[in-house]
Amino acid sequence: MANPSILILAGDGIGPEVMAEVKKIISWYGDKRGLVFDVSEDLVGGAAYDVHGKPLADETMARAQEVDAVLLGAVGGPKYDNLDFSVKPERGLLRLRKEMDLFSNLRPAQCFDALADFSSLKKDVVAGLDIMIVRELTSGVYFGMPRGIFEENGERVGINTQRYTESEIERVARSAFELAKRRGNKVCSMEKANVMESGILWREVVQRVHDEEYPEVELSHMYADNGAMQLVRWPKQFDVIVTDNLFGDILSDCAAMLTGSLGMLPSASLGAPMENGRPKAMYEPVHGSAPDIAGQGKANPIACILSFAMALRYSFDQGDEATRLEKAIEKVLADGVRTADLMGPEGGTPVSTVEMGAKIIEALDASL
Ligand code: NAD
Ligand code: IPM
Ligand code: MN
Repeated sequence: MANPSILILAGDGIGPEVMAEVKKIISWYGDKRGLVFDVSEDLVGGAAYDVHGKPLADETMARAQEVDAVLLGAVGGPKYDNLDFSVKPERGLLRLRKEMDLFSNLRPAQCFDALADFSSLKKDVVAGLDIMIVRELTSGVYFGMPRGIFEENGERVGINTQRYTESEIERVARSAFELAKRRGNKVCSMEKANVMESGILWREVVQRVHDEEYPEVELSHMYADNGAMQLVRWPKQFDVIVTDNLFGDILSDCAAMLTGSLGMLPSASLGAPMENGRPKAMYEPVHGSAPDIAGQGKANPIACILSFAMALRYSFDQGDEATRLEKAIEKVLADGVRTADLMGPEGGTPVSTVEMGAKIIEALDASL
């Protein structure tokens, strides 16, 4: 049988820096665990624009559709901020999500014990935290029509449309309930049904999917603004949170600070199962290209490495190996190894991106 295939799209800014460490870990699995992947690489975002004049070449899109998993670094940066909207780096990422139909974006926020002191919140608020945000990823205000900047009554008007069909809500709700069954059996759905019709429909459909298919899962509903507040107040009240594309984007950055740093948060963007039973999938850290630290060797590679751990679990049926990698990261953090973003006010000497990667490989070696 052919080796499982991975397409790496490292992208811009710190994307290639953190992905370099993931590549070493992929090689480690080949050398030490006999898990050999067929790895190819291509361009996305500004890096693709520089070569092709657009942020994702059609051939790259086609390749992404064929592989077992895509690993994405990050896209965007100041160099590209003034490009025409249609060719901005972010459009490349959104095209991948849309055309691969990756409707369910899993954004786990777990607080490693070693970092509980470091969060901007009190230790007992975050210690042991393990929540999963399920963000709808292919619809909502990111894609709804009409959209654009138009002339109206002698001035310009910017328009985006929040739009959800019942089936779009149903499928992401199912994925949240399925996850909850394997975790704490609790789902909290977040919208703004108090002011948005799409929120009313969202709440109604999530409730129906629950009543008809998952009555054994505990379901609650919350307005998303309250949800943001509750995430900071007492995040451990949540198990799985299911929400739309835009609220999910914002709430997951908020959840990042519960874990210590945006540089810690991985994600899996999953679609419907393919013929082999595995979902179509792209794995991407939650953070962006971090222009403020790009090129300085400071970036924390853990979010990207944990995204590969999610690939091991969700695309390659290697849950034990995913746990091995997560434990290796836990060990390195427990040993006090920190990139600059994980430095507290007490200071200390941060390690570089490459040194963090090397420490994780050492811990993987020690796990054998
Ligand atoms: P960002 O996530 O790039 O950075 C926010 C802050 O977090 C910065 O101070 C950055 O230094 C820090 N940070 C992020 N990742 C880090 C890491 N791994 N290690 C250490 N520190 C880290 O968000 P931004 O500054 O709002 O956006 C910058 C660019 O990235 C924009 O062009 C934006 O569109 C793009 N972006 C891309 C993605 C993606 O590709 N998935 C996600 C978010 C933002
Ligand atoms: C994310 C990012 C993206 C989003 C951008 C870069 C398109 O912020 O993945 O969280 O808004 O979805
Ligand atoms: Mn975001």
